[in-house]
Amino acid sequence: MINAQWILARRPVDGSPVDDDFSMVETRIPQPGPNQMLTRTIYLSLDPYQWGRWRSASNPIGRVCHGRTVSQVLESNLDGYDPGDFIFNTNGWQEYGLTGDGISAFNYMFPRKLDPSIAPISTAVGVLGMLGLTAYSGLVLQCQPRSGETVVVSAASGGVGQVVGQIAKLLGCRVVGIAGIEEKCSFVTETLGFDACVSHLSESLVDDLSSACPEGIDIYFESVGGKVFEAVLPVLNRKARISLCGLISQYGNDDIETTFEAWMMEGKEVFARKDILAQRLSVGNFVRDYESQFLSEMSHWVQAGQVKYKEDLWTGLEQAPSAFRAMMSGRNFGKTLVGVSDDPSLVEPRK
Ligand SMILES: NC(=O)c1ccc[n+]([C@@H]2O[C@H](COP(=O)([O-])OP(=O)(O)OC[C@H]3O[C@@H](n4cnc5c(N)ncnc54)[C@H](OP(=O)(O)O)[C@@H]3O)[C@@H](O)[C@H]2O)c1
Repeated sequence: MINAQWILARRPVDGSPVDDDFSMVETRIPQPGPNQMLTRTIYLSLDPYQWGRWRSASNPIGRVCHGRTVSQVLESNLDGYDPGDFIFNTNGWQEYGLTGDGISAFNYMFPRKLDPSIAPISTAVGVLGMLGLTAYSGLVLQCQPRSGETVVVSAASGGVGQVVGQIAKLLGCRVVGIAGIEEKCSFVTETLGFDACVSHLSESLVDDLSSACPEGIDIYFESVGGKVFEAVLPVLNRKARISLCGLISQYGNDDIETTFEAWMMEGKEVFARKDILAQRLSVGNFVRDYESQFLSEMSHWVQAGQVKYKEDLWTGLEQAPSAFRAMMSGRNFGKTLVGVSDDPSLVEPRK
């Protein structure tokens, strides 16, 4: 009858998450009311945007930390959902949660039934979920790549970056990743099939990038900012397109909106001189009109082995703060998620 939960203990103040930001509590497992269902969390998705939620008023202090999840239905008073069903939902950082009428899902993502025969259910918070849709929206819908163009992807081994580069390859582009350590760069080229990958840890990042992009950069998928953006700017071609997805290197700054504005200001002169289109990306704007189209195309690519994905799985809800800190400092390798309970859809348990 006990539900373990991580609640937001205080409004985080400094640049990076610390232990005192979170507190683990135990409550009673809730009972579903009319048009609600009780679900057990199987996977909890950890994403950089959660840090912004906790630092703003959108996640009240003392409430469960926000997070998207893959869950199994235990009891249902909601039409169309039965005990045993696997769903994508928004339980947050807790073992059990209610979904349905009156339960905030932070609005733009609704519960969705999952079919384990298409792909492992964990992918619903990764390549076949918000991350995949982010990659698809930013690259395909905003930047509209053409075969033969050069696409540069920052945070290339991360959840979003992996997918961006692989879609760009499928569309016939030359794809160059930017990542950190050698192991990540090798993964990006050898496993994901990017044409090249340069390290942002290198002293000669600008030269490395110029060499890897002999015909300049036509499309840049921005997830990092800071010195990575500085290195990309001089290599951008006339009429290049940029999807401004995120600025993970700057998330410790005081105000995220100011950070995005500063990025635009930094690029302004080059954008004007080279007629470059830089668009901010918010995946929530693409869910209603493009989620079905995306799921259909991406399911096909994943099933055919044309899009691969790497997960960074931590086991046990108690690990969530450590896993989150690791992700925010680049110590993750792939899409970060926490296995909160056993996954009954797996034929063989994960090792
Ligand atoms: N706009 C939207 O709607 C939307 C939706 C989802 C995600 N996002 C954004 O997309 C970005 C990627 O998200 P994700 O889920 O793919 O993240 P992720 O899997 O956690 O990948 C992030 C990667 O960023 C790199 N990184 C971290 N700190 C860095 C730094 N200081 N300098 C350079 N690289 C650094 C690390 O890779 P290396 O070790 O290789 O550097 C890390 O693995 C984030 O900025 C996120 O906020 C935006």
